[in-house]
Amino acid sequence: MDKKLELEDFVLIGRTFEEYYRMFHLESIDKNEKILDVASGVSSFCSEANAKGYNVTAADRVYRFNPEEIEEKCSKDLKETMEKLTSIKALYKWDFFKDIEQLKNHRERAYRGFIKDFKLYRDDRYIISEFPSNNFKENQFDVSLISHFLFLYDEHMNYEFHKQIINEVIRITRKEIRIFPIANLKAQRSPFIEKFMGDKAFNNYEINIVKVNYEFIKGGNEMLVVKIK
Ligand SMILES: C[S@@+](CC[C@H](N)C(=O)[O-])C[C@H]1O[C@@H](n2cnc3c(N)ncnc32)[C@H](O)[C@@H]1O
Repeated sequence: MDKKLELEDFVLIGRTFEEYYRMFHLESIDKNEKILDVASGVSSFCSEANAKGYNVTAADRVYRFNPEEIEEKCSKDLKETMEKLTSIKALYKWDFFKDIEQLKNHRERAYRGFIKDFKLYRDDRYIISEFPSNNFKENQFDVSLISHFLFLYDEHMNYEFHKQIINEVIRITRKEIRIFPIANLKAQRSPFIEKFMGDKAFNNYEINIVKVNYEFIKGGNEMLVVKIK
């Protein structure tokens, strides 16, 4: 596959520990638990969480690129995303972020924090994985977090692909999976949510929608929890 083309595929925008804490109710996760951040990209969560004593591993297909290539793409994506945001500002709730300028500074802090950590711990915490394919062992993690990857892009990845990825994450996770948001890019609950919750293939798991203390896309303040045991 063409490396450059692939790097263009997804927007490299990352979130911070503070955002993950709110999106995923992290207060209910013990610091001793092994956490996997699936499609973690340029989020600073892994870096900040490990500095705070959590045990977090990050997995994303973008980690095959070098820090300079990733940084260049982040800076370009951030500029373009902020420009596009002006015309769709009304789809978002402006309280956690007061305005576009504050959002831009926050996102810049996230990717800079990531790049710094990636240069230091590339072979340790940042694992190249193109899901559903991965080299993790069965039950390797206690909890897996999936932020801004599944359901959000329901127009770009079909239901079968969502299913394959979730099945793989179930295989490598011992206790539970938390997914945020469950809204898509139109700021509507993804139709895949209802399909997934009624899918017989997942009958063995307890699946719940839980309200969280984070809402940026209007109405997008819910996470999906899949309890494995
Ligand atoms: C919008 S970013 C979200 C990053 C981070 N989770 C956050 O919330 O800040 C989406 C990420 O999904 C990654 N991605 C896309 N397809 C993937 C796949 N099949 N396997 C692993 N990562 C993938 C991209 O490289 C990108 O970093």
